[in-house]
Amino acid sequence: MSSLGSCDFSFGGKDEEPPAEPVSWEALTPLHSRYTAQFLIGNIVSPPDIGGVRFNLLKKHFNIATAENHMKPDAMQPSKGYFNYPDAMVNAVLAAGMQMHGHTLVWHSQTPAWMNTGVSKEAAIANMTDHITKVMTHFKGKVISWDVVNEAMRDNSSSSDNWRESLRKDESPNANDNSRWNQIIGDEYIEIAFKAARDADPDAKLYYNDYNLNMSNSNKAYAVYNMVKDINQRYPAYGGRKLIDGIGMQSHHHLNTDPATVEASILLFESLGVEIAISELDIQTVFYGSPYSSFTEDAAKAQAEKYAALFKIFKNHAAIKRVTFWGLDDGTSWRSSSYPVLFDKQYMAKPAFYAAENPGKF
Ligand code: XIL
Repeated sequence: MSSLGSCDFSFGGKDEEPPAEPVSWEALTPLHSRYTAQFLIGNIVSPPDIGGVRFNLLKKHFNIATAENHMKPDAMQPSKGYFNYPDAMVNAVLAAGMQMHGHTLVWHSQTPAWMNTGVSKEAAIANMTDHITKVMTHFKGKVISWDVVNEAMRDNSSSSDNWRESLRKDESPNANDNSRWNQIIGDEYIEIAFKAARDADPDAKLYYNDYNLNMSNSNKAYAVYNMVKDINQRYPAYGGRKLIDGIGMQSHHHLNTDPATVEASILLFESLGVEIAISELDIQTVFYGSPYSSFTEDAAKAQAEKYAALFKIFKNHAAIKRVTFWGLDDGTSWRSSSYPVLFDKQYMAKPAFYAAENPGKF
């Protein structure tokens, strides 16, 4: 691993030195304070976190939260007209001085069947827009931005400029690719959703969010680019501005992710004049195909270098308004076995933490 030789642990300030012994989250300078002038720094939250050590960690190092699961359609409206708003969680986030991002309103996954299965097109549109309207109205003034539509594009997107050919559809041979919304409403479901969202809360920033948007899957990045370009050209001033405010790049990366492919997509999306959020950042380090079969010191350094390379890029792009990590600690991350985030399961800072706070040192 000769590339690891460039990892420089000689930090300037005393509080920045990655020490020989691991340091707990409590003893560190808040991560968000390193990026105050540049972008928000976020992480995920769930109701059981409130009031405990996890919430203290969250509010110390992050200034915006995303609900990991509790603001998804199946959580918020499990049956028609029965809303289950996670008010205690959102209020606790705001009371702690953080902001809240909303995730997500329209998705093919974690969505109750009643919304879009065995119903007419008209009923599906009504169910979708009613959900958007009620949820966004409920959280108006509390949630600053929303992932209005999540993961509409297939991984095997078309190379055609016609983004509609790249949308998930029900007839896909891969069941995981299915979108009942597209199947039943047609591809205009996307703009219908964004218009309902703008109407419900004109102050909220409206995002399209997806994964694998770095240029290692260039067809998918171009499909999203072409979609946002087309919709914003047709709705240049809906409620006074472009209908889609921003693109969320989930950024579920791994050690083999080439940072140049990330920057290529940031440049592409920036050219549309929209905001960018790095919305679900993690870097898998122990996984099938990784050079590391356990989380050794070398693995931790390689991961830190990858985080540093990405943060160096993020710092150079003013279009990036938020960088949110998808997991407080390796113990509870959705990809726990791959050790993907900044804190270990004892909430000790990993080398990745120091890379995120001071990427120039790596
Ligand atoms: C994940 C959560 O982390 C898991 O707890 C849940 O079981 C599945 O969803 N893309 C997204 C997120 O937009 O909502 C997903 O979150 C991760 C991938």
